[in-house]
Amino acid sequence: MIRLWISYLQLVELFVSSLVHLLYGFYIFSSAVAGDLSQALNEYFNKSNVNVEVKEGVSRAEREENGDDLPPIVLVHGIFGFGQGRLGALSYFGGAEKMDERVLVPDLGSLTSIYDRARELFYYLKGGQVDYGEEHSTTCGHSQFGRIYERGHYPEWDEDHPIHFVGHSAGAQVVRVLQQMLADKAFKGHENTTENWVLSITSLSGAFNGTTRTYTDGMHPEDGRTLKPICLLQLCRIGVIVYDWFDISWLKNYYNFGFDHFNMSWKKMGIWGLVDCLLGNAGPFASGDWILPDLTIQGSIKLNYNLNTFPNTYYFSYATKRTTKIMGVTVPSSILGIHPLLFIRVLQMSQWRFPPDVSPPYKGYKDEDWQDNDGALNTISMTYPLLPIEHPHCLVEKESDCQPLQPGIWYYKFVEGDHILFIINRERAGVQFDLIYDSIFQRCRKHAFRKKPPTMPNEIHH
Ligand SMILES: *[C@@H]1O[C@H](CO)[C@@H](O)[C@H](O)[C@H]1NC(C)=O
Ligand SMILES: *[C@@H]1O[C@H](CO)[C@@H](O)[C@H](O)[C@H]1NC(C)=O
Ligand SMILES: *[C@@H]1O[C@H](CO)[C@@H](O)[C@H](O)[C@H]1NC(C)=O
Ligand SMILES: *[C@@H]1O[C@H](CO)[C@@H](O)[C@H](O)[C@H]1NC(C)=O
Repeated sequence: MIRLWISYLQLVELFVSSLVHLLYGFYIFSSAVAGDLSQALNEYFNKSNVNVEVKEGVSRAEREENGDDLPPIVLVHGIFGFGQGRLGALSYFGGAEKMDERVLVPDLGSLTSIYDRARELFYYLKGGQVDYGEEHSTTCGHSQFGRIYERGHYPEWDEDHPIHFVGHSAGAQVVRVLQQMLADKAFKGHENTTENWVLSITSLSGAFNGTTRTYTDGMHPEDGRTLKPICLLQLCRIGVIVYDWFDISWLKNYYNFGFDHFNMSWKKMGIWGLVDCLLGNAGPFASGDWILPDLTIQGSIKLNYNLNTFPNTYYFSYATKRTTKIMGVTVPSSILGIHPLLFIRVLQMSQWRFPPDVSPPYKGYKDEDWQDNDGALNTISMTYPLLPIEHPHCLVEKESDCQPLQPGIWYYKFVEGDHILFIINRERAGVQFDLIYDSIFQRCRKHAFRKKPPTMPNEIHH
């Protein structure tokens, strides 16, 4: 009887969270469409906009002529994220890209694995056809070659022209994997790469050590790879396979899960391919080459095993938190301050226990360590890389404490906020939004450099 009641509660929970996520997805999608429509109408009725665009074009050309060598700051999105050009005029980073002279926002697919994203990111910057590597592609059952970037967004990228990266959530781990690939000279035809191509990495709510939310959403805690039969992620899996199978081009231009290299379109795999994917015999969900397995604690340990913190790169991370302790019990720290999409998850994650009959993901695992969270990630996971071994780190309370910045150390700071406070909707964070991105961009431009300090963007103009 009790068991029946629990199953019933679980089904209700699944129904509610699916509904909340669907509604939020629909809300984002329709606001992107509405934004696009109103922009198109504006442009149609108001020719003065044209002048503005021309002006911007000139300044960009001028900059190239002047040989301005301001290194770009690359903003890397997380799970379900998107880059510039997707979802119309909507910005994943809430418009933060406009706060500095030279910012790039690549689109790396919203559910693809950390490995595949890192490969994409390299070619997005350097140019050329994405090469996922022969061995990896064969193992994971996708094409070795992907999208072609006719011209890289920063083709001069090398050790003398290094880049700043800012990653949100899984995006931070993507950048770490990319830096390791550069150190390992993992790109065919680019034998010169080194870890020093990366000048700094800033992590906003970065997923360094995985999250217990993956288990709440449906990953098996036993292996951190496979899905439970009935869960939110199963619904998501089916939705993605069907979306990719129908392959409606205008929709996919608008929003893409990034699985084009798996050939899941009806044109390529037919009806039997669809059945095969749905049954779990083919596609990214069968081979585990998608992002969720990389975000479990086990998956992160596996990834981290090969990732180094390098001595000439600057590291900074912001760990977000929306929980507090009341009489020894961890609970959400606010009701109105947490996005409705995340509220139930903050509560669930603060109560989460690793099943007692399953062996814990690492030696010394304690549920208490993982209770503080921001609704998507556990706060401990966002501080600095710590599993399987701890990397050099330093807690920052006041910004002035840690200057001058030293490379090779993870500076980290706790921020009161949920997982999506600093993305999508700038108004939610209010003045905090500007403060955090200002300090990130300032640090990149002023404090994190090798050899001579670069010129600040506002010094050029005023
Ligand atoms: C037309 O554009 C200008 C500047 O871009 C703006 O100030 C004005 O309000 C716009 N007019 C309409 C009708 O949108
Ligand atoms: C996907 O399709 C392309 C051609 O469109 C082909 O070259 C490639 O080998 C296919 N990949 C897989 C994994 O079937
Ligand atoms: C490697 O770097 C050297 C100079 O440092 C350059 O001449 C050469 O073209 C580079 N090779 C590749 C494959 O990029
Ligand atoms: C997180 O990962 C790093 C390695 O990247 C490891 O040193 C650290 O102990 C991990 N922390 C936890 C809480 O798992």
